[in-house]
Amino acid sequence: MKAIVRTKYGSPDVLGLSEADKPTPADNQVLVKIQAAAVNPLDWHLLRGEPFLVRLMGFGLLKPKHHILGADMAGRVEAVGRDVTRFKAGDEVFGTGMGGFAEYACVREDNVVLKPAAMTFEQVAAVPIAGVTALQALRDHGHLQSGQQVLINGASGGVGTFAVQIAKALGAHVTGVCSGRNAEMVRSIGADHVIDYTKECFWQNGKEYDLIVDNAAVHSIRRSLRSVKRSGVYVLVGGSASTASILLSLILNPLISRIEGRKLASFIASPKQSDLTFLRELLEAGQIVPVIDRTYPLCETPDAIRYVEEGHTRGKIIINV
Ligand SMILES: NC(=O)c1ccc[n+]([C@@H]2O[C@H](COP(=O)([O-])OP(=O)(O)OC[C@H]3O[C@@H](n4cnc5c(N)ncnc54)[C@H](OP(=O)(O)O)[C@@H]3O)[C@@H](O)[C@H]2O)c1
Repeated sequence: MKAIVRTKYGSPDVLGLSEADKPTPADNQVLVKIQAAAVNPLDWHLLRGEPFLVRLMGFGLLKPKHHILGADMAGRVEAVGRDVTRFKAGDEVFGTGMGGFAEYACVREDNVVLKPAAMTFEQVAAVPIAGVTALQALRDHGHLQSGQQVLINGASGGVGTFAVQIAKALGAHVTGVCSGRNAEMVRSIGADHVIDYTKECFWQNGKEYDLIVDNAAVHSIRRSLRSVKRSGVYVLVGGSASTASILLSLILNPLISRIEGRKLASFIASPKQSDLTFLRELLEAGQIVPVIDRTYPLCETPDAIRYVEEGHTRGKIIINV
């Protein structure tokens, strides 16, 4: 099969289109003939092995263990492992795993769900990591309730565009923060109010929110926390200061929360079939519509990753396999 392969850590220049062995599903996996994949910031972190800590998380210390990247994928089941009960050959699915930048990948049965018939493979490939992250940030870590005021920082990116729509579906009043060029798009997906971060700092305008979901943490957490109501929550998802902040805040959360009198949460999203099912229902109901910025052919995956690494994508970047 054709695949975008790398054998060492490095920039997108180490990626090349090559022939690779078609994988064989383990007992609990399905073999998917991939139609579309999506690029996430995770891909360039794993590509570069940066921050170094990712290498300690089982991805290979000096050399990468995974030669094919791509965690979001959508396609047709071609074969199933012997313990798989929920899927059969021919099913159209989307979900998350490893090796999506290829013609075939094996994915655990409990990490995929059936694709809504009315949606394209490109649309559903956009959903898994960004959608699940947004859902877990709002519902599980932010404990969002209907009627609450939520601010989504980085509202125009992959996670942000899902967060705005999911927050609206959960009944919140949503303020999105993005650059002016994306303001209209963020309004069009449901934000009640938009702050252009090139003109106004949300943490300086005196407004307070029940929940802040921060996908673009560039300010100190203490500053952002001051825009959270006393009973509210600040959920750190990521951003340019992200990795060090996430790790530090994971350790210091209880202390910072006590000093500032507001709850601070940070987390690494974990794929769950129940969350993918929840998102599929929102897709089917038209309550979330994936925002797709650009689509690249498989052979141009290195360019797609370069673009995502710049940190200004408008929704999701799709690889058409
Ligand atoms: N914790 C987890 O489990 C988890 C899971 C997924 C992702 N993440 C992390 O979360 C972050 C966001 O991921 P993503 O997939 O949404 O990234 P993305 O698609 O690259 O989106 C980045 C967005 O950030 C916006 N942005 C850049 N600078 C900003 C600023 N100063 N203020 C407000 N917005 C700004 C950009 O908007 P403009 O173009 O308008 O500037 C862009 O739309 C990344 O750091 C990623 O690594 C964490």
